[in-house]
Amino acid sequence: MSRTVAFVGCGRITRAVVGGLVAAGDAPESLRGVSRSGARARALSEEFGIRAAASVQEAVDGADVVVLAVHPHQTPAALDALAGAPAGGGAVLVSLVASCRTKAVVAALPGTAVVRAVPNVAVAARRGVTVLSSGPGCPPGAFHTARALFAPLGEVLTVREDLMETVSALSGAGPALVAHFARALARAGAGQGLSADTAAVLAAHAVRGTGALLTEPGATPDAVMDQVASPRGMTEAALRTLDERALPQSVREALDAAVRLSLGRLLTGAEGLSARS
Ligand SMILES: NC(=O)c1ccc[n+]([C@@H]2O[C@H](COP(=O)([O-])OP(=O)(O)OC[C@H]3O[C@@H](n4cnc5c(N)ncnc54)[C@H](OP(=O)(O)O)[C@@H]3O)[C@@H](O)[C@H]2O)c1
Repeated sequence: MSRTVAFVGCGRITRAVVGGLVAAGDAPESLRGVSRSGARARALSEEFGIRAAASVQEAVDGADVVVLAVHPHQTPAALDALAGAPAGGGAVLVSLVASCRTKAVVAALPGTAVVRAVPNVAVAARRGVTVLSSGPGCPPGAFHTARALFAPLGEVLTVREDLMETVSALSGAGPALVAHFARALARAGAGQGLSADTAAVLAAHAVRGTGALLTEPGATPDAVMDQVASPRGMTEAALRTLDERALPQSVREALDAAVRLSLGRLLTGAEGLSARS
């Protein structure tokens, strides 16, 4: 594949995306990464064979796609660096930055085709889901390029950008929330006398198997619960206890808290995002 992708930021989500792309057949030499200190770019270079660039300019020079994968508070400095080092005509900027609206990126990099993306870490195993939304004035061809980047890594969905903070909380954070439940399940099993290792394996397979069932066409959580729970049986007793202890309400409140935090630090461009402005 001749496409060149530059990653500005080489942390956890970049590692997951790069791992998925390399597993999907992208040539490692077509992928470049740059990080602030350089250490994490070099670590990705050692792990996957991608090119560790010494500067943003070196990373993005001639790239077809630039993936911005930094934290919201790191975004103004990263956009400044990008404004000083244009990738070249036609490059698509894919922003993974949480709480950062595409109009803020376009305001800092006028004329750039910007697509916002929320992948989850399961893209590393090519079983992820990535949600996209198109930035202002983004041509259809640029959106197609962004979709093609993530398509080999799992499902790709599109939503309106004003829903992307909810998507980040549900889908970006989703694997951590489900892992939290898996840990609680394993600890409960260990509390009943299973070895910690056996309980952890059983909980992990409960998550993996349920994921497979839930992603079959037409599947629903209710149908999966019905497949397991017989009337007045042990599963029903466990599910009733989860409801009585307000698990659904706890999950709703957890999502609310994440979305509130995300909206509270939203970058829209009105705050003068680029340090140059
Ligand atoms: N983790 C996820 O599952 C996930 C999923 C979807 C979206 N996101 C979003 O993706 C973004 C990154 O998350 P993360 O978890 O990957 O963060 P992370 O692990 O903390 O990595 C951030 C990376 O950005 C680099 N960086 C910061 N400022 C830079 C600059 N000016 N130029 C070049 N590199 C710079 C850091 O460099 P150093 O290594 O030198 O510090 C680091 O490599 C966040 O906005 C997050 O919300 C994350």
